[in-house]
Amino acid sequence: MSTSAVSEKPLVSTLLDVKDVTVDYPIKGFRKEPFRALKGVSLDIRPGETVGLVGESGSGKTTLGRAVLGLAPVTGGSITYRSQEISQLGRKARRALSSEIQVVFQDPYTSLNPSLTIEQILAEPLTVRNVPAKEAGKRVRELLDQVGLPSGSVDRLPREFSGGQRQRIAIARALALDPRLIVCDEPVSALDLSTQARVLELFKEIQERTGVAYLFVSHDLEVVRHLSHRVAVMYHGEIVEWGDGDQVTARPEHPYTQRLFLAAPVPDPVRQEQRRAERRRLELEQREADLQAGAVA
Ligand SMILES: Nc1ncnc2c1ncn2[C@@H]1O[C@H](COP(=O)(O)OP(=O)(O)OP(=O)(O)O)[C@@H](O)[C@H]1O
Ligand SMILES: [Mg+2]
Repeated sequence: MSTSAVSEKPLVSTLLDVKDVTVDYPIKGFRKEPFRALKGVSLDIRPGETVGLVGESGSGKTTLGRAVLGLAPVTGGSITYRSQEISQLGRKARRALSSEIQVVFQDPYTSLNPSLTIEQILAEPLTVRNVPAKEAGKRVRELLDQVGLPSGSVDRLPREFSGGQRQRIAIARALALDPRLIVCDEPVSALDLSTQARVLELFKEIQERTGVAYLFVSHDLEVVRHLSHRVAVMYHGEIVEWGDGDQVTARPEHPYTQRLFLAAPVPDPVRQEQRRAERRRLELEQREADLQAGAVA
């Protein structure tokens, strides 16, 4: 009898498996066709791995990150996290998953609540999970130490920190509950070059120490090359190239990737802001509809 069934078993386990995912954004107006922002996207992430996601502005990188976080309308395919299908979870189940999958956003100036102290920001995810105050306080200091900030920072407000330091605080917050995966959406793009390099080193160090995996979105190929084990290249809502980081970045096969590497695209801040505003508006609308339908408290 053949033993091939055994040897075909994958040697490395998969943490996150994205299969044929489509995302359709509803478009306002009578009988308007929805806009398909992801057109059947597949990739997987292994424990402790960094998967880089590159592509020009508007190609769907943020949408894929948000789909993984349960924040984008997934209309097809599946997203499996540690063998559990998570793309259609309700709010409660999703919240439970937030200790496993975390996020660091691009903008260090809007991602931290300006009226809370660093201690309050970092303790919040812990106290929500009933960690006793004393223990939470200890953990907050541990987290600050992990991201290279002095423990004396606890009583200060976000505005007293530089962009790079704020990003360190955002990273500390993401780490608070020991996640296995962090979606990083252009987390260093708003920082100056020398700060970028230090924060990227921090991401690496944290991964080596904790074994966390990253889905690392960036328009910057150098950043992605530096950090990623595997790289996916997005173009108009599809992945056009996917594989080993060195292979994709040094010897891209797809003409689009070759062009991308020549052109090194910058993110378009105006378009990004428009997309963000549109997203906020749609989320508010959805929230109101949910409230009216009595779906949430
Ligand atoms: N909430 C939304 N409603 C409608 N369309 C959206 C929404 N969010 C994003 N889009 C559209 O989906 C496409 C992909 O947007 P996305 O923000 O994922 O791109 P991106 O690759 O992250 O771009 P960038 O590099 O500029 O951040 C764009 O055409 C965008 O306009
Ligand atoms: Mg984006």
